[in-house]
Amino acid sequence: MVAENKPLEKIYLAPMEGVCDPPMRQVLTRYGKYDECFSEFIRVTTEVLPYKTLLREVPELKTDGVTDSGCLCRVQLLGDEPEPVAQTAKRAEELGARSIDLNFGCPSRFVHHGGAMLLKEPELMHRIVCRTREVLDSKVFLSVKFRLGFLSADELPQIVEALAVDGVDELIIHARTRKDLYKKDALNWPAIATIVDKTNGIPVVANGDIVSFETSQQCAQITKTKRQMIGRAVFATPNLPQVMQGLETPMPKELVLDVAWAFAEELQKLNYPEKSLMDRLKQFLGYAHKYDDSFSPFFRVFCRSHTVLEAQDLLRKQKTVFAEGLDPNTLGAELAPAAAADVADIADVADAAAVSNSKAAEAAPQ
Ligand SMILES: Cc1cc2nc3c(=O)[nH]c(=O)nc-3n(C[C@H](O)[C@H](O)[C@H](O)COP(=O)(O)O)c2cc1C
Repeated sequence: MVAENKPLEKIYLAPMEGVCDPPMRQVLTRYGKYDECFSEFIRVTTEVLPYKTLLREVPELKTDGVTDSGCLCRVQLLGDEPEPVAQTAKRAEELGARSIDLNFGCPSRFVHHGGAMLLKEPELMHRIVCRTREVLDSKVFLSVKFRLGFLSADELPQIVEALAVDGVDELIIHARTRKDLYKKDALNWPAIATIVDKTNGIPVVANGDIVSFETSQQCAQITKTKRQMIGRAVFATPNLPQVMQGLETPMPKELVLDVAWAFAEELQKLNYPEKSLMDRLKQFLGYAHKYDDSFSPFFRVFCRSHTVLEAQDLLRKQKTVFAEGLDPNTLGAELAPAAAADVADIADVADAAAVSNSKAAEAAPQ
């Protein structure tokens, strides 16, 4: 399958707090050709953030704003006070950030006044966006990421009116409301189409459940925009951007395991403790299993491993299972059914963490 023309204008790697951190971005942008990746949200409260915090959250700023493979990283800020958000954005600009995104889509229970909570306050979102645009150099690209509404997509026109102000370069819309969290059947691409030509000429990026060439095409047709953002599905298909452009077929499964191992190596370079490294590998493979059930039998076995050596050995064996087309249960044959059931839900843990995550909890008022 090779498309004559790339069907999409832009493909972005979604910000994912606790998942798409700097080492993950290094690896995912090596295998997927994104137009840009995003930092995890950086919480701004009442104070302008120190430069060192921005550099810690977005180490790409030390290398001209790009990952090792040259993918630009957009800095995402989340806050509810116009001045600290705007001045923090300015500091990111001083550190060389070429693009900034403001988050009004985070549904975390712990972000009491910020993220998607502000969807109820279009006037406040408007002030945050306007003030940020005012202080930034006009060369710095400014986008806003949000959901369809707080309770209902009926709120979307008013939200777009508040955010589609002069000088905003892109509107990124996750096609669910805050109330919908990540519910599968709540996905509402058609709602995006209702506002796509009412944005003051600002391009719209569609986001939510784009997992393949076909879903990408459907999404483009329904939403009427050729800009898309992808998140959770990229762990099962790390070359998903090329697949969406019709340039490649999905990467063979044994190579996906190489990408997972490349991520482990990236964490090793950063001296991650073994337990954290294993948790992150399980998170990677958990998403792969959630989006492609051919990873599931292996994932169940893998969840029972504790050491990096065990992990490496299992990955090597499973590569043979995939490459030689062996019975997918080869590695799990000795696994008792009860143990398999224990790990079956691990894949949903990260999505749940997106709603009640530790970083947001730390920043929340006690
Ligand atoms: C674990 C997790 C963390 C997330 N963190 C962020 C974040 O920091 N900033 C943000 O704007 N959206 C965040 N999101 C939302 C994603 O960027 C994206 O909108 C959502 O996953 C839907 O896209 P997808 O179906 O392609 O994954 C997060 C989602 C998940 C599952």
